[in-house]
Amino acid sequence: PQACGVVPEAWRFDCYPERGVVVTRELCEARNCCFIPASSSPPAPGRNGVPWCFYPPGFPSYSLVSVNATDLGQTGTLVKTVKTYYPKDILTLQLELLYETDNRLRVRITDPSESRFEVPIAVPKATEKASSPAYSVELSNEPFGIIVKRTSTGAVLLNTTVAPLFYCDQFLQLSSSLSSQYIYGLGEHRSSFLHDIHWNTLTMWARDVAPTELTNLYGVHPFYLAMDEGGTGTAHGFFLLNSNAMDVVLQPGPAITWRTIGGILDFYVFLGPDPASVIGQYLEVVGYPAMPVYWALGYHLCRWGYGSSNATWDVVKNMRNYRIPQDVQWNDIDYMDRSLDFTFDPTAFSTLPDMVKDLHSHGQRYVMILDPGISSVQPEGGYWPYDEGLRRGVFINHTDGSTLIGKVWPGLTSFPDFSDDVTHEWWYDNLKRFHDKVPFDGLWIDMNEPSSFVDGSTVGCPDTELENPPYTPGILGGLLRAKTLCASAVQKTSSHYNMHSLYGLLEAKASARSRMLGKRAFVISRSTFPSQGQYSGHWLGDNRSHWKDMYTSIAGMLTFNLLGVPLVGADVCGFSEQTEEELCVRWTQLGAFYPFTRNHNSIDQKPQDPPAFSPAACSAMKQSLLLRSSLFPLLYTLFHRAHTHGHTVARPLLFEFPKDVRTYGIDRQFLWGKSLMVTPVLDPGVDYVVGYFPQGLWYDYYTGDSIRSKGEELRLKAPLEHINLHLREGAVIPTQRPNTTLFVSSGQPLHLVSSLSEDGSAGGELFWDDGESIDTFETDQYAHVVFTVVKNTMTSEVLHDHVEASYITVETASFYGVKVEPTRVMVNSHDAAFTYRANQVRLGVRSQRLSVF
Ligand code: GLC
Repeated sequence: PQACGVVPEAWRFDCYPERGVVVTRELCEARNCCFIPASSSPPAPGRNGVPWCFYPPGFPSYSLVSVNATDLGQTGTLVKTVKTYYPKDILTLQLELLYETDNRLRVRITDPSESRFEVPIAVPKATEKASSPAYSVELSNEPFGIIVKRTSTGAVLLNTTVAPLFYCDQFLQLSSSLSSQYIYGLGEHRSSFLHDIHWNTLTMWARDVAPTELTNLYGVHPFYLAMDEGGTGTAHGFFLLNSNAMDVVLQPGPAITWRTIGGILDFYVFLGPDPASVIGQYLEVVGYPAMPVYWALGYHLCRWGYGSSNATWDVVKNMRNYRIPQDVQWNDIDYMDRSLDFTFDPTAFSTLPDMVKDLHSHGQRYVMILDPGISSVQPEGGYWPYDEGLRRGVFINHTDGSTLIGKVWPGLTSFPDFSDDVTHEWWYDNLKRFHDKVPFDGLWIDMNEPSSFVDGSTVGCPDTELENPPYTPGILGGLLRAKTLCASAVQKTSSHYNMHSLYGLLEAKASARSRMLGKRAFVISRSTFPSQGQYSGHWLGDNRSHWKDMYTSIAGMLTFNLLGVPLVGADVCGFSEQTEEELCVRWTQLGAFYPFTRNHNSIDQKPQDPPAFSPAACSAMKQSLLLRSSLFPLLYTLFHRAHTHGHTVARPLLFEFPKDVRTYGIDRQFLWGKSLMVTPVLDPGVDYVVGYFPQGLWYDYYTGDSIRSKGEELRLKAPLEHINLHLREGAVIPTQRPNTTLFVSSGQPLHLVSSLSEDGSAGGELFWDDGESIDTFETDQYAHVVFTVVKNTMTSEVLHDHVEASYITVETASFYGVKVEPTRVMVNSHDAAFTYRANQVRLGVRSQRLSVF
């Protein structure tokens, strides 16, 4: 091929991505590609380097041969004359450009002659073309390409002319330049929050594996947020609505390649222009997260291997004795009779129903695990879930119609097909029957990648194109069926090949939809897919009790907030391996700021619940949990914003300071909402922590001491019992007196904390409802109060009233940033007692009703 030498290394797009092949000149040139061994040093282990075999300029691609205007945009025809080196090229394609809203462009490339698999999630259907789009679209005819620009700045957000388009039955590839190197999202992977674009391949295919770098993990989220070129602070997003196994390749161009082995190319571009609006626009497409039941935000305690209900119960009682907050007790698979779903061990867990009743009488809740694998080898008539499942035909089959059998904890199992409504009914009936015996409050759905201990099935998989596609993305194990079901297995909606990564989503939907208790459902799922947040939260899987795992949990938490699953956290103190006291204290402090906080431990590890440690450690943990409990009104309000506006709860600093490039890589600190900054200690043996303070005025949350930052790193004191929290200027945050459960705390009067900006102003809000009824916002069963401070006066305005508001009172208020001691403070025109210490006024307002405050 001509002109190979003119292609700069950063812009070489891999023409030979197959793994396990030594790419020779001969192999490469057989594909009509350029072969140039890279000059740079060999890549880091596990990474691809500069491709030696890459597409030459002018490599055959599609041409755009016609374009027509439509009601929503344009449609066009793409044709190609030269076949690629993969089978079943689709030589004629249909292009559809949909100007769905001013901030959202959708592009679909489909096969006009035959329908192909499309992801079965509901997305909005535009009915009118956007009237003044923030984007412009240019089409290149030969080779075909799409260029999307931001109208206001001319920034190029997408340019697919950089490499050839592939559209074969099992190999679809689209590349684009990236606007900048600042790219986030693309879950689920273990990495820094900001992705590395140096030849970094992120493979997506749901997989059960302890979080490891450069490996496909439990969930699949083909969405990214990226900053525009030029460091202006504007951001955009991209979402490929595709569930097939895929590689997402980042390279230093900066550029990206989407390489998927099925479905269609159906993607969205979101124009922001700020990072938060990009997320809001993405979530308008896949769905806003559910409003969690209030106790979901409390402290959860779990482990694998309590061994008995009495041992579990003892842990709860011990927590009560120490008066440590605990809202929820969990059980892992050891509660089950021989690991069978919907049973409990009649001997070791004989007192389980009594324990659950006792939890309820203390305002606490109970959650237990369910795995999707249903034992297929119980004596006939002896295990209703399987017998009834067979009768109703709910299980996934082989192509020959026989039930696919894999292996999970109970031994041989079949797998419910959650893409079938019949399965949802059957799942519900099972839940109901179990609930009649053990009145659980929520579900932990695990192993739902789905995970199996044999590859494919006990009898292997047929030798078909679905099992052995012409190209296999870089999935762990090298085969689609590695540690899961046969790709060829048959589900109601489509083959497992297409449906695999949707398993966790559909199981969560079945689990949450049942709403069997007439209250908001609580579901935590290991496997996730776009739109998951509507049905469940997520925990980050089987981490280790290592300092590094604690650090990477922040990136994981922030990424899932971008992906619309704000109810997220990692196993606090670490799952596998033995934790240490110091790590567990620091992790409990950080965990107190995970939107979902659960201490979980593997079998055979020593206990790691707070009372298992020294009095000093236990008391430090208790303190951080009380702190979390006191911040519940703020956290709950943030979840309301996530539910109604698609906001993040745990928020990266860059969202609030998008013009400050120094925030772009921060993943050792984060915010709750826009104002509360958390700077945890992530290293052993230190009593200080270095944190970055974006420009502005900040207050120490505990003391009100102020920090005026020019955008600096500061060294903060951090003794073992302390987690650094700072309040940004201009906030009013609602807090409450903490207690051992949120149930008892919830009725407590509020304490408002205001952090005055330089000009003395501040603002904040509170969302309040009964905490558990379904759709309170949608049905007007809530109160919404806005607080404002201007010119030394605080007012509260009830924007939406409800009887719930009449239960809320304000007991005290603190004002940070009051430079001179006031002579008088008045509450509702009456003199009020107050205290003053440098910079801070604290006030008792004697339980004023909010509505009259
Ligand atoms: C999986 C889960 C883990 C659980 C274990 C036993 O590894 O990820 O949290 O404890 O299974 O059920």
